[in-house]
Amino acid sequence: MPKHLSARALVRTRRPEFPVYCLRHHAVDTASRWFQQHFPGRVLFAVKTNPLFVQTLAKSGLRHFDVASIAEIEEVAANVPNARMSFMHPVKNRDAIRRAYFDFGVRDFALDSEEELKKILDETNCAKDLNLFVRIAVNNRHSRMSLSGKFGISGREARRLLFKVRQVGRGLGVCFHAGSQIMHPRAYVEAMKRVAKCIRRSGVIIDYLDIGGGFPSAYPHLAPPPMQLFIDAIIESFNEMPVSETCELWCEPGRALVAEGASLVVKVEHRKGNLLYINDGVFGGLFDAGQPGFIYPVRSLSEKESAGRELTEFSFFGPTCDSMDFMQGPFLLPIDVSEGDYIEIGSLGAYSLQLRTQFNGFNYSETVEVSDGPLLSMYGLVESSKMDAVTATSPELVPIELSGETY
Ligand SMILES: Cc1ncc(COP(=O)(O)O)c(C=O)c1O
Repeated sequence: MPKHLSARALVRTRRPEFPVYCLRHHAVDTASRWFQQHFPGRVLFAVKTNPLFVQTLAKSGLRHFDVASIAEIEEVAANVPNARMSFMHPVKNRDAIRRAYFDFGVRDFALDSEEELKKILDETNCAKDLNLFVRIAVNNRHSRMSLSGKFGISGREARRLLFKVRQVGRGLGVCFHAGSQIMHPRAYVEAMKRVAKCIRRSGVIIDYLDIGGGFPSAYPHLAPPPMQLFIDAIIESFNEMPVSETCELWCEPGRALVAEGASLVVKVEHRKGNLLYINDGVFGGLFDAGQPGFIYPVRSLSEKESAGRELTEFSFFGPTCDSMDFMQGPFLLPIDVSEGDYIEIGSLGAYSLQLRTQFNGFNYSETVEVSDGPLLSMYGLVESSKMDAVTATSPELVPIELSGETY
């Protein structure tokens, strides 16, 4: 893969006509080591966010993966020998269950219904070595992206399922997902309280507690509290849970491990007032900048750039003919940005590449490696003066109130 010092160096030498992903493996390595050092349990990587980083994570010591499909299982198996994989999708295809168990040695499966339990038992010939994770429904109100509508079981049904699974599985786990881009540690505290109540009332002993993903990344309009506060809250809540001393605590971050690992270089094709028509959009790598309204950190890579150029707010249109291909922002860029200029859009290591479509024929993107720092960081990878330049200028910055302190 081609290597450059930075996105700016790439533009200077190549002047690319197509969107280019700039991968920062070192940023993923830092995030992974941070989690492995600070999280008081096992860290799994949610492969769905970006399989390109599977090897990078394995090199950093992370060898346990949350997979959601056979394609992800094949990807991990091909790249990381002896990886442990946990099939945490609560509704699986029968053939996928069979192949995961018999061809790839997967033993951990999530479920949220008795029908899924039957499926798993049928397809594994009632295997006696399964670790089965019951997905409990929890509140997603502290997250920017709710994932609560589709999966999870609660109340009496949950207690009945826990009881049943305890009898057939070698290991019994509980998992939940409190949403993506969780903005307050309270999300984990509340979810763990809910799970504790459910376990107590069902009278089972659990072997695993998987608290899912959801750990935040830094965006100009969403300034999460420091990651350590999430870890502290999780440790405190876990210590109060009615679980045995041997119960393993797991988490499955996606965004928090890889978001800082890629940015996207796009070209301005046209300017109409404060609207920039760029060569990638919501049907390409910028899905979350569309309807979900994420405001990514941006910087101009234009040659004319000099310190102190006045910044103003822009919205973007992507390259397709669809008017939904619109990104409101605001994205703060130099006031004189014009056709032919390049823009670097940061924090796109998670979900972006995976969500690209071929709509209107705009399916082409390249990938290079760069060695400079990300535009924003939860792990101190950006000099604070540079980070301030991206965050302090954003009118949308939302400080988070936590225990009376503002972050
Ligand atoms: C089961 C499961 N685990 C982990 C994740 C990763 O979430 P995040 O990227 O918010 O950490 C997801 C995301 O959808 C998920 O569905």
